[in-house]
Amino acid sequence: MLTREQIQELLQNIKDPETGKSLIELQLIRDIMIKEDRVSLSIVCLDSEEQRRIELEQQVRDLLENGGAGNVHIRLRDATDYERSLHRGGNSEESEEEHEVKLKKGHAAGLDDHELISPESGVKFIAVASGKGGVGKSTVTVNLAVALARKGKKVGLIDADIYGFSVPDMMGIEEGPVVDDGTIIPVERFGVKVMSMGFFIRENSPVIWRGPMLGKMLRQFFSDVGWGELDYMLLDLPPGTGDVALDVHQMLPQSKEIIVTTPHATAAFVAARAGAMALQTDHEVIGVIENMSYYECSGCGQKEYIFGRGGGARLAETLHTELLAQIPLGAPDNHISEPDFSPSVYKEETTAALLFAEVADKLIAKYEQE
Ligand SMILES: Nc1ncnc2c1ncn2[C@@H]1O[C@H](COP(=O)(O)OP(=O)(O)O)[C@@H](O)[C@H]1O
Ligand SMILES: [Mg+2]
Repeated sequence: MLTREQIQELLQNIKDPETGKSLIELQLIRDIMIKEDRVSLSIVCLDSEEQRRIELEQQVRDLLENGGAGNVHIRLRDATDYERSLHRGGNSEESEEEHEVKLKKGHAAGLDDHELISPESGVKFIAVASGKGGVGKSTVTVNLAVALARKGKKVGLIDADIYGFSVPDMMGIEEGPVVDDGTIIPVERFGVKVMSMGFFIRENSPVIWRGPMLGKMLRQFFSDVGWGELDYMLLDLPPGTGDVALDVHQMLPQSKEIIVTTPHATAAFVAARAGAMALQTDHEVIGVIENMSYYECSGCGQKEYIFGRGGGARLAETLHTELLAQIPLGAPDNHISEPDFSPSVYKEETTAALLFAEVADKLIAKYEQE
């Protein structure tokens, strides 16, 4: 029986004739399923020409059969306009290297004059960062976005954490964005317009392919997505201080930042590095949110500080900023049968939602003062 890895290996050399890039690397060969000696997969075709499609299908079939698959089932699907522009691109005159240089200088190609990202657009960018994964960065981003929307603000959210695009699942989004005449329409949920790399990249693809795609996709998220009018744009950044986080920082010089940590001393310590990176790239840190701060006993109301105390306050002090909130432990009590089911969005009247509403008020007050 072939494994998924062996299949990817077998098909590794099939290239897109136009760009010369491997279809496996471009993630255009998808949904690989193996059942005994039967292999099924989908090919996303960049070419609409019938002859090329037939040849491509035959090539994949031959490679798999020669590699030991007994029964091969292939589905062909047309690439969307978005996928085509993503892989074959529009700005082909610019080499990757030139692009890198521009990015490092802090104004990414084509972005400078774009409405959404230009300073005149008035959109307030807030990037949410953390020192490490699992501290609740995505939970905070999602709930803060929803809290701002509940206050009547027009809010966008970009899920840019390549290590786990969790925002669609967390918000209970089941559909993907639609493409309307070359413009991608973000998915709206709880009044928040959401774009996630997860809409376009298979979740089991290796992270090593995602990094280079992130920058490209983010730029397209700013230029090809029909966001409409926005007051706030929140970004769920990758945790830590890696290259990808740095790229995002440099792509959005005007962004402010919120750092999420747990109360644990080590978590706060690594979060300080993320904060230091924000400051080095001239992003103002507008505050710290401490998550999983305590557990409140539903019977007696006593607070138990399970992960320790004081991490958030210390971090805020180190970064010369404010501790915006301490969010207690407790999952939202949504039920699968509810029409607005979402695993991670707290209902409006809950303690956590009220705390996020307070943070939203603080942000609004802060921005409106400026
Ligand atoms: N305050 C909280 N109480 C209970 N569970 C939480 C809380 N915040 C986050 N979680 C859970 O912890 C896990 C990690 O949170 P997540 O937001 O995905 O973290 P990150 O984006 O930092 O990796 C998720 O399963 C999430 O539902
Ligand atoms: Mg996350």
